[in-house]
Amino acid sequence: MGSVRTEAGLEAAARRLRDADRVLALTGAGVSAESGVPTFRGPEGLWRQFRPEDLATPEAFERDPRLVWEWYAWRRERIAPLEPNAAHRALAALESRTVEFLLATQNVDGLHAVAGNRRLVELHGSLWRVRCTGCRKLREDRRVPLGDLPPRCACGAVLRPDVVWFGEALPEGAVGAALKAAQTAEVVLVVGTSALVYPAAALPQIAQGHGAFVVEVNPEETALTASADVSLRGRAAELVPALVEAGQ
Ligand code: OAD
Repeated sequence: MGSVRTEAGLEAAARRLRDADRVLALTGAGVSAESGVPTFRGPEGLWRQFRPEDLATPEAFERDPRLVWEWYAWRRERIAPLEPNAAHRALAALESRTVEFLLATQNVDGLHAVAGNRRLVELHGSLWRVRCTGCRKLREDRRVPLGDLPPRCACGAVLRPDVVWFGEALPEGAVGAALKAAQTAEVVLVVGTSALVYPAAALPQIAQGHGAFVVEVNPEETALTASADVSLRGRAAELVPALVEAGQ
């Protein structure tokens, strides 16, 4: 049963985190909100301004690759100057003190890696990688601005962002690693996600089915709140460092 933020809830969660050898962290757009990255849902969310079916589906890209790229180029420009916040840094500290740790993020902004997390899987891909629709070659691409849109591969074919669009499968390796971690984790820390998009949203439940203790950090109630063992109501940049420091 989820409990809202209380000192007791924070302490119980911090104690579990401190005592655990195997921890899975699952993050969503909310962990980057205080760095200035827009979330998807909610009053200021990207999906209030744009329709996902116009911009984040393979069909949209086939119809109008330039329009889709304009949106991704805009997001790259917006995110490029941003920096990790205290929540990202606390998750990096948690990784360094935990025997078996995995951070599974739904974010494509790359900020967890900048903060120092290495045991990291990007379930929805990365804004900073491109994939050739012709030769399939994958490569890092940090150019901002990108130049002529849509960008092209040396082979001549159009490049696409290496992100997961609606209707597409998630990268197998990333999902496999996240599932494995969910099956063995003692504690799952879920930060800043509305927990509405599957399969990422299933990870806490899978872990709970294997006996894990699930801690949620979010200023709002979410689809996960009722089933979380502790649900802490507040901002990631305040509560994640508090959790990690209290557990030392
Ligand atoms: P959402 O935009 O659905 O949810 C963001 C969550 O962050 C909400 O629950 C907010 O309450 C919470 N939040 C806002 N500010 C916060 C803060 N300062 N600290 C902590 N939490 C905060 O984003 P995701 O759950 O990440 O997929 O969305 C999942 C997927 O849906 C995305 O990866 C994207 C989107 O469509 C694809 O593009 C495939």
